[in-house]
Amino acid sequence: MAVLTSTPELHAENYQFLQRHVYAETGIVLEEDKHYLFDCRLIPIVRKLGLATINDLCSLLQRTHAGEVSRQVVEAMTTNETYFFRDPGQYEAIKTILLPRLIKERADTKRLRFWSAASSTGQEAYSLAMLLIQAGLGDWDIQILGTDFSSQVVERARSGKYLQIEVNRGLPASLLVKFFRRADTDWQLSDAVRRMVTFDTIDLRKPMRVLGPFDLVFCRNVMIYFDLETKRKILEELHGTLFRGGWLFLGGVETAFGLDKWFERHCAGNSIAYIAR
Ligand SMILES: C[S@@+](CC[C@H](N)C(=O)[O-])C[C@H]1O[C@@H](n2cnc3c(N)ncnc32)[C@H](O)[C@@H]1O
Repeated sequence: MAVLTSTPELHAENYQFLQRHVYAETGIVLEEDKHYLFDCRLIPIVRKLGLATINDLCSLLQRTHAGEVSRQVVEAMTTNETYFFRDPGQYEAIKTILLPRLIKERADTKRLRFWSAASSTGQEAYSLAMLLIQAGLGDWDIQILGTDFSSQVVERARSGKYLQIEVNRGLPASLLVKFFRRADTDWQLSDAVRRMVTFDTIDLRKPMRVLGPFDLVFCRNVMIYFDLETKRKILEELHGTLFRGGWLFLGGVETAFGLDKWFERHCAGNSIAYIAR
């Protein structure tokens, strides 16, 4: 039986190869102390391919530029942690500050557009959709776009199906009862919510202005993985996707440097919204 390596045996040059590969494909910077991540995330791929070690996987990638394997490796290295109504203060600010303003401003068209950039398995986009229905906007023309680099998480988001453990995180019981039904041991989100959201695979480093204009963009808990130059470029592009006065929310612990040219930092309830200039 093949013996699988643990991280200490990953050759230094292969570690650097993987770091470079993931950076080139996603912009994600994996620091020197992230050996364990390669270990736990790549071993399943090594096993599936019938290889013995992560070093063998690196040789395969270098020899053949194996497109599908390369994609699997890169997607395995993305961190997809997310949950319903993450950073609840931001949803509260949308409900109590942004929506009342938009309802007045768009009374004629009744049209609103939102974007969950780096949407992972979809909880962020669907939380927003549920909030909008709860706010009485179910009959408005509302489009929510959810995008992510990883096609695997986009597929899951599209399905609208969640595990018990996922609906236990952040989702109020009243919304579980109202918007989900049991599907064996999982929970299926209702069509009324799903039809408000479309999902697509998009790399945030690509030009994005054509996607807009949006009233609100979530770009949360993804910038932390990028270097400063990548962050700066993405923030400039995000600005280009927003209506003037549109809101950008970053992750609760993320800060944005050098944003003053494009965004005004605004205390929205107990959250920080970046308002497009
Ligand atoms: C930690 S999740 C954040 C999910 C959600 N925004 C939240 O805050 O709960 C980060 C997501 O960013 C995605 N991602 C990483 N690099 C990306 C890139 N270059 N373009 C688009 N998405 C990317 C990952 O696939 C992952 O699903």
